[in-house]
Amino acid sequence: MGNSGFLATLLLPTLLCVHLSVGSVTGLGVNWGTMATHKLPPETVVKMLKDNGIKKVKLFDADSNTMGALAGSDLEVMVAIPNDQLLAMNSYDRAKEWVQKNITLYNFKGGVNIKYVAVGNEPFLQTYNGSFVNTTFPALQNIQNALNDAGVGDTIKVTVPLNADVYNSPESNPVPSAGRFRTDISRPMSQIVDLLAKNGAPFTVNIYPFLSLYGNDDFPFNYAFFDGGNPIVDNKIQYTNVFDANFDTLVSALKAVGHGSMPIIIGEVGWPTDGDKNANMANAQRFYNGLFPRLAANTGTPLRPGYIEVYLFGLIDEDAKSVAPGNFERHWGIFRYDGQPKFPIDLSGQNQTKFLIGAKDVKYLKQQCCMFNPNAKNIGKLVDNINYACTFSDCTALGFGSSCNGLDANGNASYAFNMYYQVQNQKDTACSFQGLGILSTRNISQGTCNFTIQITSSSFSSVSPLVVVLSVFTVLNSYLLF
Ligand SMILES: *[C@@H]1O[C@H](CO)[C@@H](O)[C@H](O)[C@H]1NC(C)=O
Ligand SMILES: *[C@@H]1O[C@H](CO)[C@@H](O)[C@H](O)[C@H]1NC(C)=O
Ligand SMILES: *[C@@H]1O[C@H](CO)[C@@H](O)[C@H](O)[C@H]1NC(C)=O
Ligand SMILES: *[C@@H]1O[C@H](CO)[C@@H](O)[C@H](O)[C@H]1NC(C)=O
Ligand SMILES: *[C@@H]1O[C@H](CO)[C@@H](O)[C@H](O)[C@H]1NC(C)=O
Ligand SMILES: *[C@@H]1O[C@H](CO)[C@@H](O)[C@H](O)[C@H]1NC(C)=O
Ligand SMILES: *[C@@H]1O[C@H](CO)[C@@H](O)[C@H](O)[C@H]1NC(C)=O
Repeated sequence: MGNSGFLATLLLPTLLCVHLSVGSVTGLGVNWGTMATHKLPPETVVKMLKDNGIKKVKLFDADSNTMGALAGSDLEVMVAIPNDQLLAMNSYDRAKEWVQKNITLYNFKGGVNIKYVAVGNEPFLQTYNGSFVNTTFPALQNIQNALNDAGVGDTIKVTVPLNADVYNSPESNPVPSAGRFRTDISRPMSQIVDLLAKNGAPFTVNIYPFLSLYGNDDFPFNYAFFDGGNPIVDNKIQYTNVFDANFDTLVSALKAVGHGSMPIIIGEVGWPTDGDKNANMANAQRFYNGLFPRLAANTGTPLRPGYIEVYLFGLIDEDAKSVAPGNFERHWGIFRYDGQPKFPIDLSGQNQTKFLIGAKDVKYLKQQCCMFNPNAKNIGKLVDNINYACTFSDCTALGFGSSCNGLDANGNASYAFNMYYQVQNQKDTACSFQGLGILSTRNISQGTCNFTIQITSSSFSSVSPLVVVLSVFTVLNSYLLF
């Protein structure tokens, strides 16, 4: 008994310390993408963000369930208009309607703290062949005008998250100071930058040192990280990492169009953990161990020393993302599909070895897997069944350099069958595979390869609590108004 008092005095300061160190680099945000077959309930995700001291979140749409969960949280939010709605937003009436339904509706005390509207997502990506080149600027202009009309233009700013491929430096002189916007988009880029400047809005860019490395075996490996690497010298400035060089190439491109001091936000930065020989936890950890201390110290870049607003990509793995860019695309999360931390990461930038706080009360399906039945007879059908399973689930971990690449042929089949079975919510018929599949309640993970059990999906979530709050608010509002 006496001891417990003693323990309490000992523990109290420790608990306080622990509490104080659950914080993140000032202003650190994360991208919350939702292209997963099984999503955690949005309320669980918001709790997870708060538990880890994350105060800003960037979305890829304005989904009402997500917005409902964010209401009252005080998290600062960037909502977004997807590329496929840009053309529609070229109509001012549609833009006004979008702002009413997705901004004004949440703009009340206890609502959602919206700070930015992202118009499009990397709309000028070269692989889009110019599809959005003519529709992005008019959409941006309409949304800004609609925000102004709604009386929120001073506090909510528009921006366009752009991929770093909108600028380059000439191959003849590849240094940051030579940075210019791509000539094929010089007109829309100038229009966009002028409009942002006029409204005091920031330029948003996504920078991916991983992609500099990916598919380019000549790229100097260490230059992708922050702890050394052969420097390049530009006007007596030494660049020791591609992040700084990339950022300063943008600063030079902005300067060349007359906006050298425009604020820049990093809309996405991060490192994937599977799906490529360089996508693994060790490299991700090395990257973040370099990034966070620099952000915490407000190091900035040679041309822009100081604070940078940064959104990590991404929060949670998304098993339904397109793999067109590469197999790594489904593995960007600092959390796994089930909201559990993958590796130690110190968001406060103090470089301590500690894990993030995982999602609470996660509900999993039953502890059972589907595997290849080694006694099966009709082996001739195996390849077709594996292909089928992988077409409708995520087999990216099987590829070269990935966590399940070491499996034997039977292991490959089991992995594919299980991924499909889990995506299908362990439906009885989803482990048949023409007699080639069999259920197992054992843990059949091997080595680095995890055979996962899916979570129960929250896609069927009921009426959002915000709808109730909003109805009450509307009633109150009508009392106040009349
Ligand atoms: C609001 O955003 C959602 C999600 O992005 C979208 O589906 C919907 O069309 C938007 N509402 C309007 C009125 O444009
Ligand atoms: C862009 O063009 C290439 C080659 O013509 C084509 O393969 C690709 O599907 C096109 N992409 C889009 C998004 O239109
Ligand atoms: C964009 O506009 C230019 C000039 O009017 C035109 O040449 C081009 O074909 C348009 N691009 C698309 C994808 O519509
Ligand atoms: C952070 O710690 C790792 C080892 O855990 C070390 O390799 C790295 O250099 C450290 N980074 C900084 C910026 O101190
Ligand atoms: C397992 O599948 C992967 C990816 O499809 C393939 O590279 C590997 O060769 C397969 N292994 C065997 C033993 O068939
Ligand atoms: C299954 O086994 C692997 C090691 O092969 C281990 O990492 C994992 O935690 C186990 N999973 C469960 C649910 O016990
Ligand atoms: C597999 O799961 C275990 C925990 O269950 C985790 O420690 C390990 O990092 C995972 N491996 C991969 C490659 O995801």
